This record gives sequence, C-alpha cells and structure tokens, in this order.
Amino acid sequence: MATAVVATAFGGPEVLSLVEVPVGQPGPDEVLIEVRAAGVNPVDYKIYAGVYGTDPSSLPMRLGYEASGVVRAVGEGAEGPGGPLHPGDEVIAYPVRGAYATDLVAPASSVLAKPAGLSFEQASGLMLTGVTAAHAIHATNVGVGDTVVVHGAAGGVGLMVVQLAVNARARVIGTANENNHDLLRRLGAEPVSYGEGLLDRIRALAPDGVDAAIDCVGTDEAMDTSLALVADRGRVATIAAFKRGTEAGVKVLGMGPGGDPGAELRAAARVDLLRLAEKGMLKVVVAATYPLSEVAAAHKALATGHTRGKIALVS
Ligand SMILES: NC(=O)c1ccc[n+]([C@@H]2O[C@H](COP(=O)([O-])OP(=O)(O)OC[C@H]3O[C@@H](n4cnc5c(N)ncnc54)[C@H](OP(=O)(O)O)[C@@H]3O)[C@@H](O)[C@H]2O)c1
Repeated sequence: MATAVVATAFGGPEVLSLVEVPVGQPGPDEVLIEVRAAGVNPVDYKIYAGVYGTDPSSLPMRLGYEASGVVRAVGEGAEGPGGPLHPGDEVIAYPVRGAYATDLVAPASSVLAKPAGLSFEQASGLMLTGVTAAHAIHATNVGVGDTVVVHGAAGGVGLMVVQLAVNARARVIGTANENNHDLLRRLGAEPVSYGEGLLDRIRALAPDGVDAAIDCVGTDEAMDTSLALVADRGRVATIAAFKRGTEAGVKVLGMGPGGDPGAELRAAARVDLLRLAEKGMLKVVVAATYPLSEVAAAHKALATGHTRGKIALVS
C-alpha cells in the first residue's frame, strides 16, 4: 500500500486528506518509484479549487504532476527518454498523475535520471517549471544580445526563465519583490520592483529598448508593461493571463483556454534541462519543504503568491 494525498471535494486546502491506496507491480513500459519528494505547483491547488471545472466524477482526486525518487521495480521493456531504467536508479518522474504519494507507478516515458548534483527536493521541482520556461524562451525567440523582461522572476517558473535566458546570453530584467533582488542578481539578472512606476523603471534601465517580455504572473500591470515596451507582439508571452493575452494577440502558452500546449517541445525540453542541471547551469531554488501530511499548509503557503522558487513535499 502507498499513502497518497486526495482532494475529496472541490474547495480550499481543507478538502485534502491522506489515504492508503494499493500500489500494483509495474506493467509493461511502467516503473514503480518510491517517491522521495513531490514538486508543488499552483495548478495542484487550482485544480481542486474548481478553476478548471467541478466534475464530481473526478473525485476523489489524486494530486501532483512531478516527483523524484528511487526506482523499485521495472516492467517489461521499460525505457525512459534518457535510456534504460533499473531498480535503484535515482529518478525524476514528469509528467505523472498522483505524484503526492509515497509510491507511484509511472509510465517509463516520463522517467528520467536525476542529476547527481540535485537533492531529491530540488529534482522534484525541476521539470514542470523548466519545460514551461523552455517553451516561453522558444516562443519569444530569446537569444544572444536580446534584452528580455521577465515578470514574476522570483517564482518557480520565473527563476527558470531567468536562468535559461541568461544561459542564452540575453540581458535579463526581472520584476520581483525587493527581498528577492539579491537572488536575481546572483543568477545574472537585473532586478526591478513591480508596482507603480514599473514602466519608467524598466525604461531607465534599458533606454535602448526591450526586445521580448515573458509574463510569469498574469497581472494587468505585467501585460500593460510588456505591450508598452515590446513592439513585436510575437515576442511577448504569458503563461498566466490567458484571456488578456489572447485579446492582445501575444503568445499564450500552456493548457488554458486559447493557449498553445507546446506538448512536443515541452517533452523534448526535459532532456536539455537535465543536461543543464548536471552542468550546474540550472539551479532549483527550494523555498520550503513540508511532509506529505502537511500538504494543506504547503498549499496555503504557495497560494500567497509570494514564495521564492519551489515548494517540495517530502515522504
Ligand atoms: N501556462 C503554463 O504552462 C503554466 C505552467 C506553470 C505555471 N503556470 C502559472 O504561472 C503562474 C506562476 O507559476 P509559478 O509556479 O511560478 O508560481 P509561484 O512559484 O507561486 O510564483 C509566483 C511569483 O510571482 C511573484 N509575484 C507575485 N505578485 C506579483 C506581482 N504583482 N508582480 C510581479 N510578480 C509577482 C512572486 O514573487 P515576489 O515574492 O517577488 O512577489 C512569486 O515568486 C501561476 O499562475 C501558474 O498557475 C502556468
């Protein structure tokens, strides 16, 4: 048996509970993983809050799309995107369903070797944010010599966008609360505070103009500022303002209404992210870890919208 988190109703974190669930042996092309950490993402609480619908047949609902852990058993023919898998391998599993659990059977196509330099907590937070960031960098064609503004630069996705853009040798201006400015500087970005006067502050930093903008927060301020700074709407992207972004004709990325899911690009990006992490060129900042039993507290913390980097659930 495994211990897993389920949402038993639609609502706030009070609908979450721990249950015992059977774990079978892995079938063909499947892998049984002993989960060490699960990455916590805003989608995890939005889904049981009813943001994407309230179909009662989806209850009770398992949660969590990414995990790290140790392979315990391998089904026939199971090979991951990075090669064959063996019992004892330390791995990342993404995308999966039900990552908030002590044990998990995952499709082998979602299981990749964990970079040795990442802890399990860090590894559990690499992929969902990383592939989203890779999609945003690709969609806005950010490269050598570009100046790019990243809104919400200190969040899970924002920190990944910052690092990928710096690796691409772009100049990165990132909006964040002042207490995150040192972190952004250490990662190679120029921080700027969001709020009244943002546009003027960015123009003062980049008098020669801004080539691209990536919104990782979804506020009107982020969209207004991006549109005022970047003439080419094909080089403005949002991962959070689906309605506004569609109306404005910018790149809207992800599974929301009118968004480009970018499924193939995101799947392929996983191996690139692993290589960067292995070389120490991509860090995962973990703000806090919580035991599985404190999942409600973890979701309350993330829902403040002001955590720095990732939250991990450890089992
Ligand atoms: N479309 C997709 O494929 C996709 C994928 C992943 C996530 N998302 C969505 O993208 C959003 C961000 O995800 P995440 O995982 O990065 O969330 P997160 O880790 O909670 O990060 C949110 C960040 O936003 C910053 N922030 C809060 N208010 C702000 C403001 N007014 N202006 C600028 N920054 C502000 C916060 O930093 P400070 O502390 O500095 O304020 C915080 O670090 C969520 O809505 C999520 O659901 C979409």
